Amino acid sequence: MANHRGGGGYNHSRNHPSTSRIRKSFFLSVTLYVTLVFALSIFIFMLYSNDIVQDERKMPLLRVEDHKSDKLLDDQLWRAPSSHGLRPCVKPTSKYGATAVWDRYITVRSNGGLNQMRTGIADMVAVARIMNATLVIPQLDKRSFWQDSSTFSDVFDELHFITYLQQDVRIVKELPKEIESLPRARKHFTSWSGVIHVAKSDSRLANNDLPLDIQRLRCRALYHALHFSPSIESLGKKLVKRLKSRAERYIALHLRYEKDMLSFTGCTYGLTEAESEELRVMRENTNHWKIKNINSTEQRIDGLCPLTPKEVGIFLQALGYPPSTLIYIAAGEIYSGDTHLSELTSRFPNIVSKEMLATKEELRTFSGHASQTAALDYIISVESDVFVPSHSGNMARTVEGHRRFLGHRKTITPDRKGLVQLFDKVEAGLLQVSSLSQHVKKLHEKRYGAPRRRAGAPSGIKGRARLRLEESFYQNPYPECICTGR
Ligand SMILES: *[C@@H]1O[C@H](CO)[C@@H](O)[C@H](O)[C@H]1NC(C)=O
Ligand SMILES: *[C@@H]1O[C@H](CO)[C@@H](O)[C@H](O)[C@H]1NC(C)=O
Repeated sequence: MANHRGGGGYNHSRNHPSTSRIRKSFFLSVTLYVTLVFALSIFIFMLYSNDIVQDERKMPLLRVEDHKSDKLLDDQLWRAPSSHGLRPCVKPTSKYGATAVWDRYITVRSNGGLNQMRTGIADMVAVARIMNATLVIPQLDKRSFWQDSSTFSDVFDELHFITYLQQDVRIVKELPKEIESLPRARKHFTSWSGVIHVAKSDSRLANNDLPLDIQRLRCRALYHALHFSPSIESLGKKLVKRLKSRAERYIALHLRYEKDMLSFTGCTYGLTEAESEELRVMRENTNHWKIKNINSTEQRIDGLCPLTPKEVGIFLQALGYPPSTLIYIAAGEIYSGDTHLSELTSRFPNIVSKEMLATKEELRTFSGHASQTAALDYIISVESDVFVPSHSGNMARTVEGHRRFLGHRKTITPDRKGLVQLFDKVEAGLLQVSSLSQHVKKLHEKRYGAPRRRAGAPSGIKGRARLRLEESFYQNPYPECICTGR
């Protein structure tokens, strides 16, 4: 967006009489530091109003909303955190040996959504390496919630996957005919007879205490070997280009306000009775969701609910994003569509979905394949200037990790528990709307995706529970795959 105009405004407002008058009186009473901060905000205000005036003169109706923020404000909203010289490092160490080709095979059925599959596959590459086994191209689960019939090569670039990893693991398209009929050892890795079949790939490998070379292999597998299929990559890139032509920068919002998630988490805040009931029935009828009785109020207070479209709108507004901000919605179908989405679009009208960016023709081959449309969302989210997930989940975690890996691109992780408290205080009249922004900003000072080591389990927790509570490897592959050296 026209930065040159912001630059023009800079010189202009400096000499403005009212600025210097206010500055003068201010110098008398307060310290230099406060003065500077104050002058800065005046200065930003002048720029801002100056631009509005200019805009109104030139385009009386159309451009009023299109606020041109100056460089400083811009930086605060869009600048990525400093990487402190950190870079991706995925090369094997000098101890890493050649692929041991043994006559053992691992077959895998990958389950879950796209990102569960991707991280699961990367883990299976590591398992095959540890076991000196040949990996058979994984089968993608077709029975999951998403009912997607895509095969591996529909979603991923199979040839690239095989050749990229040839120094690490032998990968074949299918089991050799002569051993098809051999009995397969299922799940257990200790005693087996030639072929292991892994029935599920979403049981995560440990995050920590694995050899460095295995951790780096997981990163090579996920970030370098598992490319999406050429047709997905090409459309994904096209859509990113179209977004960049609409605005200089965009936010990718993973708005996880989809029916399955709301039903699974039992979060019904802001929904009607009928909607809540529909979600309850769905949960009741989904066998593999173990927890049936959920108190929505408690879930929300504990920070376990996805932010609603309205909450996301208030959140982004409080962080200072202007209404003109271009926001790409990376998600499937939003629950109850426009009814809830409108509470976000009323604050940010410049919201686009893939259906708005791509032609029907372009989307035709993807529709009905949840993992392929999710792949488009993934690409657009990784390439965005700012990524904001409304809920923590596999997609949110994997995109965050990938962005860290690529140079700590800005990811704003909402503190859902803290936000809900603030929103409820405003609602109850215990907090002024005007001071909400300040509180929200404070709450998120350390949640912009700046470099930090992967978090371990909270102290005091022992045994296997630790593993589940650690931050996931793919959410933050620092320090193993991000370092200052190579
Ligand atoms: C895999 O091969 C390496 C080197 O050839 C050997 O040291 C290791 O014990 C083997 N692992 C298994 C599980 O067979
Ligand atoms: C849900 O939890 C809230 C807060 O603890 C409580 O006030 C409410 O009565 C609970 N609702 C039900 C239906 O149990």
